[in-house]
Amino acid sequence: MSSATLRDTPPDSVHSEDGHYEPVNVTRRYDDPRADINRDQSKNWFLRLVPILLVNRWPFSIGIGLMVLTMIMGVSVPALTAELINAITPAVVDGETGYFFMLGGILVGISVIQFFFGFFGSYQLSRVSNMLEADLRSVIYNHLVTLSFSFYDKIQTGQVISRANSDIKAIQMFLMMAPMMLTSILTFFLALTYMLTMSWELTLASMVSVPLVYVVSMKLRSVMFPLSWLTQARQADVAVIVDENINGQRIVKAFAQEAMQMNLLARAARKLQWVQVKSVEISAIYNPLIESLSVIGQVVVWVYGGWLVMQGELQIGTLVAFNMYAMMIQMPFRFLGMLLAMEQRAKASAGRVFEILDENPAVTDPDDPVDLVDPRGEIRFEDVHFAYGDEAILKGVNLNVDAGETVAIVGATGSGKSTLVRLLARFYEVGEGFITIDGVDIRQLRTKNLHYHVGQVLDEPFLFSISIRENIAYGKPDATMDEIIAAATAANAHEFILETNDGYDTVVGERGYTLSGGQRQRLGIARALLVNPPILVLDDATSAIDVRIEAQIHDALLALMSFRTTVLIAHRLSTINLADRVILLDDGQVLATGTHTELLANIPRYSEILQQQTVAHQPVVESEQEPEDESDVQHRARLAAMMRDGHNNDRGGPGGPGPGGPGGGMSR
Ligand SMILES: Nc1ncnc2c1ncn2[C@@H]1O[C@H](COP(=O)(O)OP(=O)(O)OP(=O)(O)O)[C@@H](O)[C@H]1O
Ligand SMILES: [Mg+2]
Repeated sequence: MSSATLRDTPPDSVHSEDGHYEPVNVTRRYDDPRADINRDQSKNWFLRLVPILLVNRWPFSIGIGLMVLTMIMGVSVPALTAELINAITPAVVDGETGYFFMLGGILVGISVIQFFFGFFGSYQLSRVSNMLEADLRSVIYNHLVTLSFSFYDKIQTGQVISRANSDIKAIQMFLMMAPMMLTSILTFFLALTYMLTMSWELTLASMVSVPLVYVVSMKLRSVMFPLSWLTQARQADVAVIVDENINGQRIVKAFAQEAMQMNLLARAARKLQWVQVKSVEISAIYNPLIESLSVIGQVVVWVYGGWLVMQGELQIGTLVAFNMYAMMIQMPFRFLGMLLAMEQRAKASAGRVFEILDENPAVTDPDDPVDLVDPRGEIRFEDVHFAYGDEAILKGVNLNVDAGETVAIVGATGSGKSTLVRLLARFYEVGEGFITIDGVDIRQLRTKNLHYHVGQVLDEPFLFSISIRENIAYGKPDATMDEIIAAATAANAHEFILETNDGYDTVVGERGYTLSGGQRQRLGIARALLVNPPILVLDDATSAIDVRIEAQIHDALLALMSFRTTVLIAHRLSTINLADRVILLDDGQVLATGTHTELLANIPRYSEILQQQTVAHQPVVESEQEPEDESDVQHRARLAAMMRDGHNNDRGGPGGPGPGGPGGGMSR
């Protein structure tokens, strides 16, 4: 077959700006994250965040600058107050009130400016920390979409959600508070300088309680860290249980396990409560302790300073100012405890966020990726080995599918059929051997390009809680309504869609649970057909569809399959009947390939597997009967004809499929 003629209609292909071929053009309405974290895992958590801080450097610097100015003004207030108080006596004695009132005016002015600077400064810093939070979140999301199936196999949804929310929040809080608290260190030095110029003896006396405050703050830090870490971890545990509870609610109810689920949740909630109460308890002990220590510090200053005033060595105004400074220099030490506790929490959270960000995608684009343009769809597996963990699933699969051919993969349950097609889309990387499309190793292709060309319909298609129309157009958002209806009609979904409340605009419940299994599968097929990929994989995609309706879909599929390479994973004979050729997968290898009749006649294992599957799948088919579609005389006739021809359909008697009759070839 000649290239690029396999498709009936050429897709709306575009060559994107960077020269890539994209069969479907999706307008990007979002920006890339403005910066990434530092990828060097040996770096300290804060240093790893610096690149994101740097993109926000201007508002950040302005915020810090304003906060510093506010601090400096704050430090000048006690000195001016001392002047003011000390100016009272001369004013009384000499009647010189001008200087006194001028100082009062300056103090009012400083307070007003301090307010504005403080307001703008803290506004800028909170703005930066929120931008940072958004940046970090988009870094995480951008990373999550690059991660391969192997990551999603093991991660719990609740964990990701909690890390992308409460952990990022903890980092954001710290980054907002830290600069404010750090500027208080500047206050410390400025205040100390003032104090030393006033009286060095008194300065020494005021320092008595500082080491104690420091020690207590440090102790608080060491106790708080494990607690913060536990808090975050237990919040995530609760999130995981809530997530599974909601998503698994149908199973919970079906097995009447509500009480057990509640027990699980209650236990996790209690564990979280314990650690939170413990944190509060610790702060409740330490914070008043620090408070009392600083009061003792003040009393020392008042008593010793008062004595100095009595001796005439100090003015009363200076003593008042001194006390204000003594309180100021304690501030950083008090903050330090709080800051360190927040730092511990942010560090624990950052670690949890980095755990996701440091996860390397198992499947990546090659350095010099190739794009296939309108591939013919010839598939080749060459000695492919694969294992999810230690146990080998595929042990040297050799397979050729011609362009435009339709093959059915048959194998016992767990034999690795789904695995085989997951490898074709490079959802997982092959262990040994290679897979090619049109002679190009799929590892050389840009994965996005590969995914455009290999359309997959799974047995449990995931539907988003958006309208039916948008669900069908998911892979091709710019599809016209006519195209959507055509795809839906081909998948035999059009009629039931019209019967829903708002037709194509009906919003399906989460995961499409407001639809039946068979209806969901038909939307899944329509979704894949709309993208019109040159290679189409149907993994048990019609398992929940009534045999009668399946037959109708098959008519449509037959027409569509003639334009493309199709890989069917089939349990039902009716589906196998659609294929040109059957590939029998057994024990991790291709045991045989040929037409259904050939295999039935020559390979005993084939009929054995078919028999098992027919029996195994029968109840499923019956329980999934869909009442809404009218029986169709034509399709009954067709089924009858198939059975007459020797193709037992899978709703045949418990004896399973009979041997194919002489006229039972699979030609179409
Ligand atoms: N994500 C995974 N991680 C680890 N092991 C897996 C994973 N998916 C499948 N397996 C294992 O790999 C084997 C093959 O699974 P696969 O889904 O390919 O079987 P299958 O032939 O499609 O079966 P079925 O007919 O039941 O769909 C099974 O033993 C299964 O337990
Ligand atoms: Mg499977």
